[in-house]
Amino acid sequence: MPTHPPPTSSEPWWKTAVVYQIYPRSFCDTTGNGVGDLEGIRRHLDHLVWLGIDAIWLSPFFTSPMFDYGYDVADYCDVDRLFGDLATFDALVADAHALGIRVIIDWVPNHSSIDHPWFVESRSSRDNPKRDWYVWRDPKPDGSLPNNWVESLTYGPAWTLDQTTGQYYLHNFLPQQPDLNWANPGLKTAMLDTLRFWLDRGVDGFRMDVVHMIGKDPELADEPPEFVGLPHDILNEQPETHVHLRDIRKVLDSYEGDRVAIGEIPLFDLDLMAGHYGDDDELHLVFNFPLIFAQWDASQLRNVLTTTLAALEPRGAWPTWVLSNHDFPRHRTRYGGSEAYARAAAVLLLTLQGTPFMYAGEELGLLDAVIPPDRVRDPAGRDGCRAPLPWTAEPPHGWSTDTEPWLPWPPVPEHSNAEVLRDDPTSILHLYHSILALRRDTPALRLGGIGMLQTPPGVLAFQRGDGPEAVTVVVNFTEGHMPFDVAGVVALSTTRPANDEFDGMLHPDEAVILR
Ligand code: GLC
Repeated sequence: MPTHPPPTSSEPWWKTAVVYQIYPRSFCDTTGNGVGDLEGIRRHLDHLVWLGIDAIWLSPFFTSPMFDYGYDVADYCDVDRLFGDLATFDALVADAHALGIRVIIDWVPNHSSIDHPWFVESRSSRDNPKRDWYVWRDPKPDGSLPNNWVESLTYGPAWTLDQTTGQYYLHNFLPQQPDLNWANPGLKTAMLDTLRFWLDRGVDGFRMDVVHMIGKDPELADEPPEFVGLPHDILNEQPETHVHLRDIRKVLDSYEGDRVAIGEIPLFDLDLMAGHYGDDDELHLVFNFPLIFAQWDASQLRNVLTTTLAALEPRGAWPTWVLSNHDFPRHRTRYGGSEAYARAAAVLLLTLQGTPFMYAGEELGLLDAVIPPDRVRDPAGRDGCRAPLPWTAEPPHGWSTDTEPWLPWPPVPEHSNAEVLRDDPTSILHLYHSILALRRDTPALRLGGIGMLQTPPGVLAFQRGDGPEAVTVVVNFTEGHMPFDVAGVVALSTTRPANDEFDGMLHPDEAVILR
């Protein structure tokens, strides 16, 4: 019976929303330069409305030299010309809102670009007023690096020596992404103002990039021996971060409309991750990543679900779930390419208790692109999952381009595209559409409690909600038929038609929702 309780009534929109992540470079190009843009997103809002998602999260579209493809921001308050301008952004928000779709944008508070005017000033001299807006340290007396931290993208040192002033600056990501110093009140005020800039333009919330990194150890102490060589972003846990998060939350709460703060917190320790919800006064939602690291395996996934829910439950924290994003191979690729697994995974993702995050293209069953050496773009090897989305069967697949897109197409774009799959009622695209429709019409799937059920090996099952409204979700991870004794009518299955009484026998690779 449900062990993780349902939330209380009158819940904010983001508890029942399904969020759809868009990597703007890869969604749709309307200008012919081979790079997706904001107008391309605007033109495909009809796809998202039909699909049935509630909110879009846009990865960074801000002015950037693109060393980390936009996660290196040179102006927090403008649109890079590659993607459009502020007017295009406003038009996108207006159209999305008119269609009932909320807009969440990415906010990158831990680091800027080396091209940001703040850093240009900061590096110009040791006594520049903005020197302290970044983290500068002298070399150790022997000339070596200030500490042993490792950056997270290429696993090099987290420090780079700036020749002009003879000091090192901290960068927990690429050398082109210097860490901002949130301990400096001027910098903190300036960053909180960037939130207000976009809140005033009507955004519904932020996905906050590695936001657990903004509090820094004042000593910048060496990583202890057992952690030497691990990137610092999976380790950083500082009391100051929580002070900043409470101040960030206050900015959002000062606006009408339940603006949401979603933190990317890749800490391995689930209790530390959960701590970033605070006492309902820090982040509203926190990504947790164990689901991305688990294989398609019933016992592994059961363990991920139970440990994650157990870490959140004592705080009354609302879970999030994500299988794919722009940093990891797509889940279908990770699971070996099987479409049957991808279909079952869609059911799992969208029926768990919490807010699910889809990654654009998973509804098309996309696999990662194969990237030949001369097309590699990302220094951290993440190009495969960032391949362009094919909209139509014929090249250039709905992209307005005479040139090749910035990355190669994913496999079989002539089949795996929105046009062809929309015409096929048995496609994975229609499956996503059906699950999302069922979710919208089924209160137990949106807000019900969750309880794991006893299962034979190779099967995962849980109940959502209680009483006559309750729904049971069962996933068969095996390639064979599996008896599973549960009563109910099939509301949706990845392998059989709906509306029949469940016969107690799971099909190979089947995921089924029973009521
Ligand atoms: C986050 C982003 C990733 C980026 C990094 C640095 O992990 O998801 O794409 O490279 O932060 O901003």
